[in-house]
Amino acid sequence: MLENILKEYPRQEDYLIEVLLEYQKQKADRHIGEDEIRRIAEHLGVTESKVWSVITFYTFFSTRPRGENIIQICKDVPCYLNDGNTVQRTLEQLLGVQVGDTTKNQKFTLEHTSCLGHCDGAPAIRINDKTYTNLSVDKLKAIISEYRGNT
Ligand code: FES
Repeated sequence: MLENILKEYPRQEDYLIEVLLEYQKQKADRHIGEDEIRRIAEHLGVTESKVWSVITFYTFFSTRPRGENIIQICKDVPCYLNDGNTVQRTLEQLLGVQVGDTTKNQKFTLEHTSCLGHCDGAPAIRINDKTYTNLSVDKLKAIISEYRGNT
């Protein structure tokens, strides 16, 4: 799969983020491993440390295998001040895992992220590509139950 994606991109550093996004999106466990980092670096003519630095800078990339649904809790100040801790506590209780972990059934991974660009609706989370705002405990319960049932 990686080779097919790499074939689509010129051998230039400019395409690093696009390649990483495309590859991670297609991988079932949504992470980029060490061998893949080496292969991507080789193809684009950049150092492996450059690829690592991009992956670790952006919170939407991961070097650890993740679940089917990636829940990212915003930890920036506006969300924090609008009861962001309750959001985290509630999600950890509902899913039975701590931030950084994946549920045993591989259905959910819980992570932190920086600002999602929805500060006016703080507190906010993102699940995969969708952002949820103005969260309450009841709203979180409804969201999680929807993902448990419909995905
Ligand atoms: S601080 Fe949370 S969305 Fe901006």
